[in-house]
Amino acid sequence: MTSEIKLQDLVPEKFIGEKVNEIKSAVGDGIAINALSGGVDSSVVTMLGHRALGNRLRSVFIQNGLMRDGEAERVECLFKELGVKIEVIDARKEFLDALAGITDPEKKREAITQTFYKKVFGRIVRESDAHFLLQGTILTDIDETVAGIKRQHNVFAQLGIDPHKAFGYKILEPLIQLRKDGVRSIGKALGLPEELFARIPFPGPALAARIIGEVTEEKLSVVRKATSVVERILAGRGAFQFMAILHEDRVTGMRDGKRDFGRQIEVRCWDSVDARTATPTRLSFDILEYLASELVEKVPGVVSVTYNIATKPPSTIEAV
Ligand code: XMP
Repeated sequence: MTSEIKLQDLVPEKFIGEKVNEIKSAVGDGIAINALSGGVDSSVVTMLGHRALGNRLRSVFIQNGLMRDGEAERVECLFKELGVKIEVIDARKEFLDALAGITDPEKKREAITQTFYKKVFGRIVRESDAHFLLQGTILTDIDETVAGIKRQHNVFAQLGIDPHKAFGYKILEPLIQLRKDGVRSIGKALGLPEELFARIPFPGPALAARIIGEVTEEKLSVVRKATSVVERILAGRGAFQFMAILHEDRVTGMRDGKRDFGRQIEVRCWDSVDARTATPTRLSFDILEYLASELVEKVPGVVSVTYNIATKPPSTIEAV
C-alpha cells in the first residue's frame, strides 16, 4: 500500500529534496529517460529529474498523434525557457496502427500502453544506455486501476506486472504518494510557469480517451479541433477539467437546407479537487450556447452538441 501525503501535510521543499536524493541514488551515475507529455504530472517529474540528474536525464516527448493541436511545439518551447532540452519523437504511425480496429475502451488503453512502454520506449531504452524511466504516476491513477474502474495506462506494479521483466527497464515514480493538488504545489515550488503547474489534467491515452469507438485519423482531427474550441472557451473559469468527447453515433442534422447525417460532440466540464469524485460545472446557458455555435461552426461535420450533467461516480471524467 502506498501511503498518501495529503496537501495539508506536504512541505514542498522537503518533498523535493527527498525525491531528488532518491532519484540520484537510484540512477547512480547512469542515465534516465523520462516521457514528457506536457501534463502537470509529467512536467513536475521532468523538473525533479532535471534537478537530480541534469543532462543525464533524457526528456522525450512522444508524438503519438493523439495530442492536442500544436502541443509538442508548445511544450518544447516552454521547457526550453526553463533550460530543459526536450527531444520530440515521432511515433504517430505506430500508435495509429496499434489502435486500428479496436473499439473496446480497455483494449484501446491496453494497445496504447503496450505501444508506449514496449515498442516506443523499449526501443529508445535499447538504443540508449538508460535503465530507468521516470514517470508521473499519481495515487489516483493507482486507486482507480486497483479498484478495477479504469486501467490507467501507467500503472504496473499494483497489477502484478514487473516493468523490468516486461519491458527491460525500471520505472521510478516520485509522485506516487500525491494527488493532483499536491503535484501542482510541487510544480509551483519547482519554478514551473503557471501555464504548466496549473494546467488542467490531460489523460495519458490523450485524445484516444475522448473518442468513443475506433480511433482513426479522421476522428482524431475532429476531436482535436473540438478540443481547441472547448479549451479556448472554458479556460480561466476555475473548472478542474474540461473536454470534448466525440461520439460514435451519427445523428441527422441539416445544413444549407439539406440533410446532413453528422457528428455529435459532448462537452464535459468538471468541478473536482482530486479527480476521485467530480460534479459538472454549472455553466451558464449563454456559455453553453456559445460552445454549441462555435463547435458547429468551427468543427466540420458536427451537427449536435450536448453537455454532460451526470456526476462522477457513476461517470468517469474521461469517456473511455
Ligand atoms: P477518470 O476518467 O478515470 O480520470 O475519471 C481521472 C483523472 O485521471 C485522468 N486520466 C488519466 N491520467 N493516465 C493518466 O495519467 C490515464 O490513463 C488516465 N485516464 C484518465 C483524467 O483526465 C482525470 O483527470
